[in-house]
Amino acid sequence: MSYKSLGLSDDLHRYLVAHNPPLDPVMAELVAETHASFSADDAEMQIAPEQASFLEFLARLLGARRAAEVGTFTGLSALAVARALPPDGRLTCFDISSEFTSIARRYWERAGVADRIELRLGPAEQTLTTLPDEPHLDLAFIDADKVSYQAYWEAIVPRMRPGGVVVVDNVLHHGAVLAPDNRNTAAIVAFNDMVLADARVESVMIPLADGLTLARRV
Ligand SMILES: C[S@@+](CC[C@H](N)C(=O)[O-])C[C@H]1O[C@@H](n2cnc3c(N)ncnc32)[C@H](O)[C@@H]1O
Repeated sequence: MSYKSLGLSDDLHRYLVAHNPPLDPVMAELVAETHASFSADDAEMQIAPEQASFLEFLARLLGARRAAEVGTFTGLSALAVARALPPDGRLTCFDISSEFTSIARRYWERAGVADRIELRLGPAEQTLTTLPDEPHLDLAFIDADKVSYQAYWEAIVPRMRPGGVVVVDNVLHHGAVLAPDNRNTAAIVAFNDMVLADARVESVMIPLADGLTLARRV
């Protein structure tokens, strides 16, 4: 028995991806266009394919009808969540970039889920206040600028229904959380400690891709 998670070699990662549901052709094209259109550094912002499978699975598991996402980029995570929503379900996406999200909108149309997604452009710290105040969200995904994670958390947690789940990406920050040497990693470290101490949620951290925290509103 092993007491720690595996570090994945490239071959083992390929095996893992091959044993998750394959990206459908629209998602696969979105991944290809993102990598063709942006520098490797920017394209790396896109969630990993296995995270897309995981988000879709989780949204179905929760029977999610109302969801929110902070950090949309070219739209892969939103597409994964939206596909799991019922036809009258709604995903509200927050991003600051019309350039990135114009690509997202095209793919949401092509996937037939555009009518389930509303995109609100602007600094999310401000635009998140446009969500209804009451606890109504079944699922939320935080994946934008790291220095604002705590602010996004404070905006989102009160809006989660009991049993609703907040998913947060990049909580291991490429392993740099062990020795933070810049403000983004320092922000993640402070955020992770804050989540652990937050009595409004029960949380687990899992080493999927760059690390995900799942926090269930109690
Ligand atoms: C890591 S990417 C999101 C990746 C996306 N979830 C996906 O599946 O491809 C981060 C996104 O956060 C957005 N962002 C950065 N700062 C922001 C801010 N202050 N408010 C809203 N969005 C922001 C960026 O424009 C970028 O699209």
